[in-house]
Amino acid sequence: MTTDELRNKAVELDRKDPLKDYRNKFVIVDENIIYLDGNSLGRLPLATKQKMRDVIDNEWGSNLINSWNDHWLKRMQKVSAKLAIILGAKENEVLLADSTSLNLFKLVCAILNKQAGKTKIITDDLNFPTDVYILEGVVSLLGNKHRLIIVDSINNTYPDVNVLKESIDENTALVALSHVAFKSGYKYNAQEITEYACSKGVPVIWDLSHSAGSVPIHLKDWQIDYAVGCTYKYLNGGPGAPAYLYVREELQKELTSPVWGWFGDSSPFEFRLNFNPVETIEKFNVGTPPILSVSAIEPALDITIEAGMEAIRIKSELQSEYLMELIKTELLPFGFKIGSPVDVAERGSHLSVRHEEGYGITQVLIRSKKISKNVIPDFRTPNNIRLGISPLFNSFIELYEAVKMIKRVVENKLYAGYSSEINSVT
Ligand SMILES: Cc1ncc(COP(=O)(O)O)c(C=O)c1O
Repeated sequence: MTTDELRNKAVELDRKDPLKDYRNKFVIVDENIIYLDGNSLGRLPLATKQKMRDVIDNEWGSNLINSWNDHWLKRMQKVSAKLAIILGAKENEVLLADSTSLNLFKLVCAILNKQAGKTKIITDDLNFPTDVYILEGVVSLLGNKHRLIIVDSINNTYPDVNVLKESIDENTALVALSHVAFKSGYKYNAQEITEYACSKGVPVIWDLSHSAGSVPIHLKDWQIDYAVGCTYKYLNGGPGAPAYLYVREELQKELTSPVWGWFGDSSPFEFRLNFNPVETIEKFNVGTPPILSVSAIEPALDITIEAGMEAIRIKSELQSEYLMELIKTELLPFGFKIGSPVDVAERGSHLSVRHEEGYGITQVLIRSKKISKNVIPDFRTPNNIRLGISPLFNSFIELYEAVKMIKRVVENKLYAGYSSEINSVT
């Protein structure tokens, strides 16, 4: 297709898009900024602004501490239940709490406690660094009795599923993987890997941070035992929004959280001095939940539930395929390489393109006035520019315009002179 034909295609796809009006549910201050970083921090829903005003003015401002009983404790359960809908879980299987890292820590410790004598822990090099750090940290905490095996990927893009499976044996205490890989966007078949590990008696924890809100998840139907994830990416929950932890109902009773805090106790307001945890998933609660952040998530989850994960995925796949076509036609001739799976069924909702000037290109896209529209993707070392597609607010024409800008930056070498100093947040 020619560049003009690709543009016409975007216009036509937008015209037919059944989700196009969802964009109006988000705060969009500047139509000239193309935001392709919803896979890192989602946009602010308009309803969240309203909700926060209400929580601040009325619940905190006027009603003060009474709001714990009137609103906030109930809200914790309500928001967890909404998350459960998105994750295909039962409402008593999902707990909104802490960060993904801390939830992973709690689950890893609780599971290893039940796996006495088994010494192998398996992950892969596509996993997010914090997940690997948590595993390393637990190994150290438990006296280095376990061995962490990090299975190599193929070209930092795909896992070697056969090697991964071969490494899972009767001596394996735990497998911990990201459902969708943060750099390449590769999407595991979580059901298949879980089934395989289960046949060897090995539990698997899935990190759903890059899949929740971007691909349909059916934790119950897939018979997933354990999962964690965040809410600030495709779920649009806001910066530092609380994460979640999932444990299949049947397994909850036998687990012990390694962090004993009063919100995990059966009667925290009796102020007893010996911990007596609840038997439900709330045993993984630690301290007082961040109510302002919890309140911000709810309107965002409502939008996702209303749009429906199947419809979101249909649009995401269409956009991902369209973006791939643009990349192949417009960017590969300029030294870009594709850093994501070629098969859309194996991708989450972002595409990575690699370029040796990737960092400089990203900086120009975000900041330079030499291009007519700025684009916000993100950069992951050493050379990945991640183009995140959030079907709820991204249009097809935005993808077209973004690629046009990327091409302009490279064609004209606009990145030359841009600092190679890496910002704290990339
Ligand atoms: C896959 C994955 N897991 C975990 C995290 C970090 O989670 P948290 O900061 O909530 O601990 C991220 C952050 O981007 C991530 O992409």
